[in-house]
Amino acid sequence: MDRYRSFARSGLGRRVVAGLGLPDPYPLRRHSGTGPALDGPVRLGGRGRLVTPVGAALGSIGLDVTDDSDRYGALVFDATGVERTEDLRELHAFFHPVIRSLAPCGRVVVLGTPPASARSQVAQRALEGFTRSVGKELKRGGTAQLVRVAEGAEGNVESTLRFLLSGRSAYVSGQVVHIGAAAVEAPDDWAKPLMGKTALVTGAAQGIGAAIADVLSRDGAHVVCLDVPGQGDALAAVAHRVHGSTLPADITASHAPQRIADHLVRHHGGVDVVVHNAGITRDRTLGRMDEGRWDAVVAVNLTGPERLNEALFAADALRPNGRIIGVSSIAGIAGNAGQTNYATTKAGVIGMVDALSARVGHTGTTVNAVAPGFIETKMTAAVPLFIREVGRRMNSLAQGGLPVDVAETVAWFAHPASTGVNGNVVRVCGQSLLGA
Ligand SMILES: NC(=O)c1ccc[n+]([C@@H]2O[C@H](COP(=O)([O-])OP(=O)(O)OC[C@H]3O[C@@H](n4cnc5c(N)ncnc54)[C@H](O)[C@@H]3O)[C@@H](O)[C@H]2O)c1
Repeated sequence: MDRYRSFARSGLGRRVVAGLGLPDPYPLRRHSGTGPALDGPVRLGGRGRLVTPVGAALGSIGLDVTDDSDRYGALVFDATGVERTEDLRELHAFFHPVIRSLAPCGRVVVLGTPPASARSQVAQRALEGFTRSVGKELKRGGTAQLVRVAEGAEGNVESTLRFLLSGRSAYVSGQVVHIGAAAVEAPDDWAKPLMGKTALVTGAAQGIGAAIADVLSRDGAHVVCLDVPGQGDALAAVAHRVHGSTLPADITASHAPQRIADHLVRHHGGVDVVVHNAGITRDRTLGRMDEGRWDAVVAVNLTGPERLNEALFAADALRPNGRIIGVSSIAGIAGNAGQTNYATTKAGVIGMVDALSARVGHTGTTVNAVAPGFIETKMTAAVPLFIREVGRRMNSLAQGGLPVDVAETVAWFAHPASTGVNGNVVRVCGQSLLGA
């Protein structure tokens, strides 16, 4: 439980926090299924190739666009026209007058482009520093992202905007997302985009995996919930809650990948979404780490997903427009003392995204990963108090995330209209200082 957060939001706490300049964990606005996606209209600016298609996507989402409000839910700037460093001035011209009119938990989205020339490469790269700094300046739950949209991908932005311009992305900030050109399948019903699809979630009995099962089921998927046989009761409870099915298996067992692939083909005619969430930690500094700790972590977190992918490909179990989603960690980006084994595997997950996304990209299948920061689960509740407090506060939102924040990010990757979102690793970490 986050006691500091409760204190900081109390009458006395507010005064102490403001007076001493302490971290202020603002209550985040999360997706609830009712009420508007944003707490105010969108202001859309810029003079690139995305203004018109993004305006159309905002209309389809049901967001109001205006230049005439004193409180905005989001500020969206099309910077695809920024080619020279002198053009960067347009960022200042758009944001400076209105940034203080952003509502609590408001959204800043800068739209960029993969650069077409060496000159535009400089100006386009500069957008990253701008966006990340805005994320650090925003108070009261605001977030900022840079979305690079390739030429020809102008019609592929809607699923990403639905995620970023809503409470679904409450704990995602300071990220750079790439959207490529791809044939995109718009769902019949945006409220149930995974209707008729089958999703496999490993490590689904508790924590983040259980939240992923909840959200994918909410979005219409039949979820096959996999966990070790020893988690049978908890696994059955999750599967029952999400109207899914159970598949007890230890992913490190030698025949498990083949058995899982066969199960999916036989019972579901294949699988659409695979979420490699199962993971373990066995922390020790390197000099104190026995090989059992090393081997166990590598087997579950990295070799397991790799072998399962190969078995699914060999059995042709992944259906067209398939999704493979890895669960990395900010430890795999920044490194972490006491976690050489864990960070090795979580960096390896990013390698898996790089290797596989290039291999399958032309087929409509995508491979992406989430990299959670400090998420409030049993795993982080077991961390010693001081380290836990540091982990919670060392991010722009000054709080830990919830399993649902990771799950919503997975659901955005899983979305049938996210075919252009391939090869991304998105941190769900409140813009943690680690691995920024
Ligand atoms: N909690 C965090 O702050 C955090 C941060 C970064 C990354 N992650 C990653 O998110 C994922 C989920 O983390 P969590 O906090 O929910 O952990 P958790 O320990 O609560 O849940 C992990 C689940 O994986 C299952 N599992 C372990 N080994 C397995 C195996 N061999 N076969 C099948 N299932 C197995 C466990 O039984 C458990 O149910 C992990 O990959 C973890 O590394 C978590």
